[in-house]
Amino acid sequence: MDERLTTAEKLNEDSFEKSIRPESLDEYIGQTEVKENLSIFIKAAKMRKEPLDHVLLYGPPGLGKTTLSYIIANELGSNIKTTSGPSIEKSGDLAAVLSSLEPGDVLFIDEIHRIPRFIEEILYSAMEDFTLDIIVGSDSNSRNIRIDLPPFTLVGATTRAGDLTGPLRDRFGIINKLNYYTEEELMMIAKRTSKVLDVNIDEDAAYELARRSRGTPRIANRLFKRVRDFALVMGNGNIDLEITKLALDRLKVDSLGLDNTDYNLLKSIIEKFNGGPVGIEAIASSIGEEQTTIEDVYEPYLLQTGLLKRTSRGRMVTKKAYEHLGIPYPEK
Ligand SMILES: Nc1ncnc2c1ncn2[C@@H]1O[C@H](COP(=O)(O)OP(=O)(O)O)[C@@H](O)[C@H]1O
Ligand SMILES: [Mg+2]
Repeated sequence: MDERLTTAEKLNEDSFEKSIRPESLDEYIGQTEVKENLSIFIKAAKMRKEPLDHVLLYGPPGLGKTTLSYIIANELGSNIKTTSGPSIEKSGDLAAVLSSLEPGDVLFIDEIHRIPRFIEEILYSAMEDFTLDIIVGSDSNSRNIRIDLPPFTLVGATTRAGDLTGPLRDRFGIINKLNYYTEEELMMIAKRTSKVLDVNIDEDAAYELARRSRGTPRIANRLFKRVRDFALVMGNGNIDLEITKLALDRLKVDSLGLDNTDYNLLKSIIEKFNGGPVGIEAIASSIGEEQTTIEDVYEPYLLQTGLLKRTSRGRMVTKKAYEHLGIPYPEK
């Protein structure tokens, strides 16, 4: 499949993201409540000279979970070690990471919901008592050993909080949901990026870009980069409204930030399933996408903007979506 410009998922090009990542809470735009609370917990932990409680960050891709994890470490003045659920395949993988921790470290586990269940248990005692219980030796000759770990803070990130087991979720003292950003916040992010990259963007152009970014900083930055190319080649380098509109239209990102995949999804529910309600499995097979990709990546924004509705009998396309697509709404 083609890589989607408006996907909130990470693409290869996104090494550029690192260069524009905010590094402190003050620079981190939006998510005000999350930021204010974290700031207090971080200060309190430092005053007590204790590690910060374990933090769980959840929400759709591209909203700033990884960024915030690094910021937490910065604000604590701690080192960060990173790993991810999918890269932990054996108990030994997790044991190795845990035993490499030093006092006060932040351990960031991305996609924490993907740690295999049988390994997850190792985390329980590590998080609760800072101990590592492992079995050494082979079947007939095996024994349990317990290793003390230094105090540390686990920061877990996930797009699917619902997939965490109860026992794991319960061991996080601080649980934060990241929400889609407002247009104003995305404008600020676009302007911040323009400063970092030393390119000018007009106020109305920043607004246009923000509007089409699906509430997602990663997308705002990615669109910024593409629009910058158009401005450089077709204009004088300055990003104005005209260039922005032209670029985004050419890139087939519409006024709500929808692209072909969104159109496909909405249209196939309308055309093949009468607008719904229809089950997620049927949608997945009709557009040839994984069910989890639809649930994690495409659907949250369509739900958020009120183009799609979730009912007990399945997904339904709303009147707003018919209007946006220019398809007459069948009054039922
Ligand atoms: N609150 C924010 N303020 C400014 N830029 C942000 C913010 N959140 C995210 N970004 C930008 O968006 C990009 C994607 O964020 P990231 O933390 O990787 O998202 P996630 O881990 O949730 O998928 C980052 O590179 C960063 O530049
Ligand atoms: Mg991330």
